[in-house]
Amino acid sequence: MSSPIRQGEPYSPSRTTEIIDELNREGYVYLGPTLEPDEVAALRSAMERMWADPAMHEPERNQIAGISLMRMFEYDNAFRDLIAREPFASLAEAVLGENCHMLAQNALRTEPDPERKGGWHLDDLVHFPLNDEIERHDPRMVMPVMVMQIFVPLTDIDEVQYGPTEVVPRSHYAGRRPNDPENPSFDGQGPVSILAKAGDAYLFNNQIWHRGAPNGSDRIRYLGGVTYSKRFVSQKLWPFIDYQMPEHVWEGASPRLQRLLGRHEKGAYG
Ligand SMILES: [Fe+2]
Repeated sequence: MSSPIRQGEPYSPSRTTEIIDELNREGYVYLGPTLEPDEVAALRSAMERMWADPAMHEPERNQIAGISLMRMFEYDNAFRDLIAREPFASLAEAVLGENCHMLAQNALRTEPDPERKGGWHLDDLVHFPLNDEIERHDPRMVMPVMVMQIFVPLTDIDEVQYGPTEVVPRSHYAGRRPNDPENPSFDGQGPVSILAKAGDAYLFNNQIWHRGAPNGSDRIRYLGGVTYSKRFVSQKLWPFIDYQMPEHVWEGASPRLQRLLGRHEKGAYG
C-alpha cells in the first residue's frame, strides 16, 4: 500500500550541525515548512478515519485520555512512511545514533476546550534528576538526548487560540519536573508558543517542559509526528511483551524503515 509521503531531502551537514546545536542549547527547534499539502491531508484523514472507527474506542485499545491516538503506523502507511521521511530520519540518526528507532507514534487530536488548565510536563521520567539543593545542570554540559519528539501540525496552529505546543526554553537543564502547574519558568525564562502552519515541523528533547496550550478555537487541533529514541530505550508499543507488529506494516518497507520500526541488528544485551 503506497502513501503520498515523499522521500524528502536530508539537511546539509552544516544545517544539521546548526539544528543539533540549537537542540542541545534550547531543548527544541522549529524546523519550518516541511511536508507538502497532500501529505498533510493524508495524515489528517488517517486520524479522522481512525477516530471515526468504533473499534478504536474500545477501552485502552488505541488511545490515551481521549486525545492521543496510538501506533499510527499500524493504521495508515502515510504515518508509517513518515518515520523514514527526510529530513526527519537523518536528523534522528544524527541526534540519537545510526541504530535509533521509533519509540512510539502517537498523534494528538484536541477538541476545543478553552477552560482546560495546566498540563505542563516532561515526557515520561526525569532522565537526570537533581537533588533539591542543586539548582540546575551545569550549562557547560551537553545534556544527552535519549528521546526526541518530532511534531508536524496537520491543521494551522499559527495563533495562540488554536492551542500551540508551548515550551520553556532550556528547561531540559532543570533536572526536575516543571516548577509551576500553570506558569513554569526556568532561569528567568517563561513559556514560549511554537506557532506553526500545517506541514511545518518542530522537534524537542523529551526532557523539556512543554504542554499543548488550551484549544480556545472552534476547530479540532490535529498533530502528527514521530517519537524517536536511542536503541537502548525500549519501544513503547502496547501491549508491550504481547505486542506483535502486524505484517502489513512491513510490506514494501525499506531496510532502513524496518530498522526504524525496530528490526535491529544484534547489539548490546541481545
Ligand atoms: Fe508531552
